[in-house]
Amino acid sequence: MLGNFGYCNPTRLYFGDNSLKYLNRELKKYGPNILLAYGGGSIKKNGIYDEVMQILEMNDKKVFEVAGVMSNPTVHKLYEGCEVAKNNDIDLILAVGGGSVCDYAKAVSVSAFCDDDPWEKYYVRQERLSNPVIPVGCILTMVGTGSEMNGGSVITHPEQKLKIGHVFGDEVMPRFSILNPTYTLTIPQYQMVAGFFDIMSHICEQYFSGEDDNTTDYISEGLMKSLIHSTRIAAKDPQDYEARSNIMWTATWALNTLLSRGKTTDWEVHMIGQAVGAVTNATHGMTLAAVSLPYYRAIMKDGLAKFRRFAVNVWDVDPAGKSDEEIAKAGLAALEDWMKEIGVVMNLTDLGVTEEMFDDIADGTFLLGGGYRKLTRDEVIAILKESM
Ligand code: NZQ
Ligand code: ZN
Repeated sequence: MLGNFGYCNPTRLYFGDNSLKYLNRELKKYGPNILLAYGGGSIKKNGIYDEVMQILEMNDKKVFEVAGVMSNPTVHKLYEGCEVAKNNDIDLILAVGGGSVCDYAKAVSVSAFCDDDPWEKYYVRQERLSNPVIPVGCILTMVGTGSEMNGGSVITHPEQKLKIGHVFGDEVMPRFSILNPTYTLTIPQYQMVAGFFDIMSHICEQYFSGEDDNTTDYISEGLMKSLIHSTRIAAKDPQDYEARSNIMWTATWALNTLLSRGKTTDWEVHMIGQAVGAVTNATHGMTLAAVSLPYYRAIMKDGLAKFRRFAVNVWDVDPAGKSDEEIAKAGLAALEDWMKEIGVVMNLTDLGVTEEMFDDIADGTFLLGGGYRKLTRDEVIAILKESM
């Protein structure tokens, strides 16, 4: 049965190869002081920085920059952004980059006027938002996280070996996001395919939970089929605009609150992947790729009906003459083949994980109950071993 729910997504999107011009329209809604957040320099190399600065200047904005937002943004970088935001009466935080920069912008948005330590309050204790926020807008350059249309913000505390996300509500979701697929054509292959797997994982995390036959699961299956089709093309020809633009759109819908409506969700792959990220600083999508198959094979029998459905509806496995378990296994084998075809990392060893790290990773793994079985710490260790 589809559960009861409310639905509102306040993020206004501008999609397409001419979408940056709509930044003019959006900037008119905000005061003069802009905090421009970006990463390690890709936007300077590919010219996006210059294009954005020109529009900001034309609109008489005063720009304060926070550069060098790293992948897996740290709490220390967050504190730096809070100082800039607090001291300059910022009217809009404009994130230009991938999920890390968008997540960072949301973190600064909620933290700048937080009286407590924002890491402790919002990430460790997961308290509800209780202070004013600064509006956020995004210009997306890397595809995968869905951060452009959700309230998620993931921050890493390297010393505490914790990487934690907080899903904030409407007031923190980007007021607007500009999605220009041509901006994504310069992403290195490794990052691109990591993003592809991140999208698949977001859909799977929401699909592999509950046995109910509901509309949301059919939407998930459609998105997965589109993703598989377009990523096969893009992995071979990254400059294929049609494939890359479809993938960009799929990524947004994979994690913009739609697929969790009216049903339970899992997210255990992300919990293990984030714990791996906290210890290794590895690329997010690759951490998920390395642990997914061992996790799904461990819980397959607990959610057999859904794994069977995944095989038949998503991977076109022919069920004739096979037991449900054989069909479900064939679906996971098809997932594995696709992962190898697009070229994601298939094990934790390639991400620098050693057995000595297992305890820290298991300690940093939150055990959720939304999937087919709540794991024990020993099962997490077993999945890590299997993922090596
Ligand atoms: O820093 P620069 O120089 O910009 O380089 C980046 C970075 O090295 C590069 N890049 C981005 N756009 C590019 C480009 N290089 C060339 N051309 C372009 N157009 O790509 C690298 C990766 O960027 P990053 O933003 O780190 O990647 P991603 O978008 O995968 O974001 C990962 C972060 O998002 C979090 C992850 O945990 C991780 O911290 N997530 C956020 C979620 C959310 N808000 O809902 C959900 C996800 O599950 C995820 O946890
Ligand atoms: Zn993810």
